[in-house]
Amino acid sequence: MADIVLRVEDLAKTFKKPFSGKKVEAVRGVSFEVRRGEIFGFLGPNGAGKTTTIKMLTGLIAATRGKATLLGEPIPSPEAMGRVGFLPENPYVYPYLTPREFVTLCGRLNGLSGAKLTNRVEEALTKTAVAYAQDRAVRALSKGMLQRVGLAAALVHDPELLILDEPMSGLDPVGRKEVRDLIVQERAAGRTVFFSSHILSDVEMLCDRVCILRRGEVVVAGSIHDLLGNDSRRFEISLADVSEPLAQQLAEKHAPRHVGAVCVYEVEGDEAVRDLLGHALAAGARVESVTPRRETLEDIFVRRAL
Ligand SMILES: Nc1ncnc2c1ncn2[C@@H]1O[C@H](COP(=O)(O)OP(=O)(O)OP(=O)(O)O)[C@@H](O)[C@H]1O
Ligand SMILES: [Mg+2]
Repeated sequence: MADIVLRVEDLAKTFKKPFSGKKVEAVRGVSFEVRRGEIFGFLGPNGAGKTTTIKMLTGLIAATRGKATLLGEPIPSPEAMGRVGFLPENPYVYPYLTPREFVTLCGRLNGLSGAKLTNRVEEALTKTAVAYAQDRAVRALSKGMLQRVGLAAALVHDPELLILDEPMSGLDPVGRKEVRDLIVQERAAGRTVFFSSHILSDVEMLCDRVCILRRGEVVVAGSIHDLLGNDSRRFEISLADVSEPLAQQLAEKHAPRHVGAVCVYEVEGDEAVRDLLGHALAAGARVESVTPRRETLEDIFVRRAL
């Protein structure tokens, strides 16, 4: 059986608003497992409950119901957290320290000292590409740089499991790629990575398995391969020279997308493809392309999570 580093069972959190006493059911019974060595994506629209779940797992807030084990320890577990590298949603980095001082402090708090500490700090700053700014004051750094300093702090003590709440947030496209590469590299070095993100293309590229939350509940869970490797027969058919009568005839069944003068129809099933092409050719339209359309994670997200 696979080694489970994070097991979450029916975890729930209800916040009570001060004064009004109104309840917010932020997480409503979430269950999933993260296996050792995998990259696991934790997704969901704004307010779905990702950060709240991560806060419960990392011991920042108490669960209202349910249980979870982190590296085999029931949460909250300060011992297990010593083996976890955590990047919070908006990492707070002390403004009057330099990145090197801050990451050194984090390493020290995790029990490192001496040459080992110095080496680990240097390694973490290099990996996250902040070494060049390591002696500047943190308050003078850009948002993306702060995010990297937060990542360096998460990595400094050589953790088994990385829990990253939106690690690509605030980064430019090059920075995002660097963080993607870093995640892959860390997994290759034997770490398990659990991260939340809104950037579905990144998740699709990186993750072995994902779980999508919607209003505090899991609505989709599974391996990326199973979720996207569907064999639904969907096609995109691009037609040029679509006459008005043909457009009207096709509009009864399909709403096209217009790309310049080309009409793009999305159809499902061989029968529908044959039908549409038959009508199009008979009416003198030009077939520009017929492309099988694989479902993307974004399609699944839009269909199931919104
Ligand atoms: N301390 C709190 N008190 C009251 N409600 C809260 C608290 N923290 C979060 N919530 C509510 O819980 C819900 C889930 O919030 P959460 O921050 O977990 O979402 P999220 O999935 O991380 O969203 P985002 O993608 O925007 O980061 C939201 O409705 C939020 O307003
Ligand atoms: Mg969040």
